[in-house]
Amino acid sequence: MSDSTGNIISGTEFSAKLRATIKHKVTILKENYSIVPGLAVVLVGDDPASQIYVRNKGKQTLEAGMKSVEHKLAEDTKEEDLLEVIKELNNDNTIHGILVQLPLPAHIDEERVINSISVEKDVDGFHLTNIGLLSTGSDKAVIPCTPLGSIMMLKDRLGSLSGKKAIVVGRSNIVGKPMAALLLKESCTVTIAHSRTKNLKEECQKADILVAAVGRPEMIKGDWIKPGAVVLDVGINRIEKEGGGTRLVGDVEFSSASKVASAITPVPGGVGPMTIACLLENTLQQACRINNIESSEL
Ligand code: GUN
Repeated sequence: MSDSTGNIISGTEFSAKLRATIKHKVTILKENYSIVPGLAVVLVGDDPASQIYVRNKGKQTLEAGMKSVEHKLAEDTKEEDLLEVIKELNNDNTIHGILVQLPLPAHIDEERVINSISVEKDVDGFHLTNIGLLSTGSDKAVIPCTPLGSIMMLKDRLGSLSGKKAIVVGRSNIVGKPMAALLLKESCTVTIAHSRTKNLKEECQKADILVAAVGRPEMIKGDWIKPGAVVLDVGINRIEKEGGGTRLVGDVEFSSASKVASAITPVPGGVGPMTIACLLENTLQQACRINNIESSEL
């Protein structure tokens, strides 16, 4: 699936193709098995960025032909009430995927909530069982959506990743750690760098694959990148524009980095659009697993 021009890896194009494949498989699932995959998204509070994500998830779920359910709960919702909503969704056989939008308000125990989602319906791959399966390199793991989208684009561009030196800048549970586990599974030599890493620029310069997921606008410059390396920019940062207004930038300075890298994802239009497409993919996979259907046969 080579879908990008020059050294730009277009997540917009890649995700459109992935969503079209998913939509086709959903049609077959409906026609041959009378199953409609269902995704429930739970949002607590009114964080504006989370509201936009949740709206987009709902829209794209419907566009893929799936059932979409949204639960919007008040900021001061009690943990027990949130757990009750999840329990009902766990028991609802029209729902195959449950996603609780993070971050949750501070009074709620995130770990307890995430692990109350039935592992069969975890589409974020954040349940401890799925984290464990990914750590052991098991093919049964549900893989977190952003790392899944990233590894798909990397393998599409490079084919085998075996033996390559990779650096992941950022150690979050959502991106950095699962990304490192995936790269290791592909037999890369993996460095995980973070805010305390010494000589970060020199560490980055050694890497054939650089994944930036630190949340620091344009921190990684062109001269940090080994000539010919492949760069995946997971950062989405809104910064002030000269002359007013705002714009989105990644964690990598695109203007300098794109002159050095053999391939690079832009922001916006890179890794970002792959995240929701992979959420739909995980929902489809869980619907198949719950119903003992081999998804590769769809
Ligand atoms: N908040 C930011 N990214 C994510 C994600 O991938 N899943 C969930 N549940 N919350 C998020």
